[in-house]
Amino acid sequence: MPRFCLLLLLLCAQRVLAAEDREAFNHPLPDLSAGQQVQFFEGRTLMHQSWIVAPSQDTQHDGLGPLYNQLACSSCHPKNGRGRTPDRRDERLQSALLRLSLPGPAGAAPRPHPAYGEQLNEQGIPGVPGEGSVFIDWQMQSLSLDDGQRLTLRRPRLRIVALAYGPLQGALTSLRVGPTLIGMGLLDAVSDETLHAMAAEPKPDGVRGRVNQLRGEDGQLRLGRFGLKANAPNLRQQIANAMLGDLGISSSLHPQQNCRPAQRACRAAPTGGEPELSEAQLDALTRYLALLQVPPARAATPATRHGAQLFMRLGCALCHRPQLRSGAQALAPQLAGQDFAPYSDLLLHDMGESLADHRPDYEAGGRDWRTAPLWGIGRIKAINEHSQFLHDGRARDLQEAILWHGGEAQTAQRRYRALSAQDREALLDFLRSL
Ligand code: HEC
Ligand code: HEC
Repeated sequence: MPRFCLLLLLLCAQRVLAAEDREAFNHPLPDLSAGQQVQFFEGRTLMHQSWIVAPSQDTQHDGLGPLYNQLACSSCHPKNGRGRTPDRRDERLQSALLRLSLPGPAGAAPRPHPAYGEQLNEQGIPGVPGEGSVFIDWQMQSLSLDDGQRLTLRRPRLRIVALAYGPLQGALTSLRVGPTLIGMGLLDAVSDETLHAMAAEPKPDGVRGRVNQLRGEDGQLRLGRFGLKANAPNLRQQIANAMLGDLGISSSLHPQQNCRPAQRACRAAPTGGEPELSEAQLDALTRYLALLQVPPARAATPATRHGAQLFMRLGCALCHRPQLRSGAQALAPQLAGQDFAPYSDLLLHDMGESLADHRPDYEAGGRDWRTAPLWGIGRIKAINEHSQFLHDGRARDLQEAILWHGGEAQTAQRRYRALSAQDREALLDFLRSL
């Protein structure tokens, strides 16, 4: 009997720990003021809010669409973690989206497709046809590591069907999965000077790193920090872009509905206010994401320590920087002047032909991606119950993510392939500890 009780207790403890692990991206910073707490909890509700069709009794949360991808922010950023790409060829996108544009002049904003805009909105409110559906076929290819171990990698091929507004003809496409949303306030507070300084630093192994620059609505040039090609200058702008592009919710930054000139039903649909997202709501959502805590890395073991050394020695840290410092301007006093470990430089790098989407975005070229922050990456499996990585979710584990690295990261990738099985495992162990 006592042994049975002990077993039960252990099982319970394990359950509690697992449940805590799943919530690791949901906690606020520990020292919020009373005002910040109010905004944090308001923002959290908005993050999970399913928006509804206008007009409705709930005037605070109506205005969905007319064209949209999902009902809620959290659909694509489940538990503030990562979305995924369908593994099956008949599965709809749940937490990913397809960016679109036409070829345009270098250095400029993406040129919207005349009929579909900059993103395929798969859904429409009643009376407004959704733009189309995306399905994925996976193409397999094999490769071997230097010690002879054979592996397969998969690459997505898009199947776009049921296009409701005519052919896509010559459109550039880019499949992207919703990324992890921890630490956004710290990234927002990285100063222009810091970004320029990192870009200017000479680096070995052919690694470069450039800032993305875009012209804001006020005509000012701003450095990009958010988005997988660093095409949004700050968190507020990124959130307003997501509100319009992903949910069809207008805001002070995007007062117009997301309808193309020929989408008549879309343009005639009732709106949920002008704008649909109030300033207070935009503010609360911005503070919520800014004030989310980055969970600490797990305690180091001999293997993870060895892995951390390899991470430096292979040249991973040239892009995935283990230390950054935020500037004086921040969305909250707690976020200013902080040292933190995003494992990113927020700069654009040419990642080679295999990862290219061939869709330029301001100064980001078709092979460029912003260094993906690696903080929290070891917790994705517990939080999101999958282990897909890279912009389009093609990597099925951390090793596959590394093996896709090319371009400026070719040298680091080759060095990884040449490691012994034991060293590879130590490096992966280190990544899993983040
Ligand atoms: C249909 C899926 C989808 C929905 C819904 C969605 N997102 Fe995203 N989110 C993405 C994708 C994909 C990216 C990467 C964007 C890019 O590079 O084009 C992203 C990027 C972001 C980023 C920047 C992350 C970074 O590291 O730079 C933030 C912040 C964000 N989303 C917040 C939101 C908020 C807030 C909402 C609700 C208004 C929302 N998202 C709704 C898919 C989605
Ligand atoms: C030249 C810069 C550079 C170097 C060097 C580099 N990376 Fe990356 N890494 C990136 C970029 C950019 C991405 C995002 C690519 C994408 O999504 O297609 C990325 C993505 C990743 C991801 C997936 C992250 C995610 O959220 O999907 C992992 C894991 C990773 N890198 C690990 C490593 C390791 C380990 C090394 C060293 C062997 C390394 N990287 C070297 C730039 C670099």
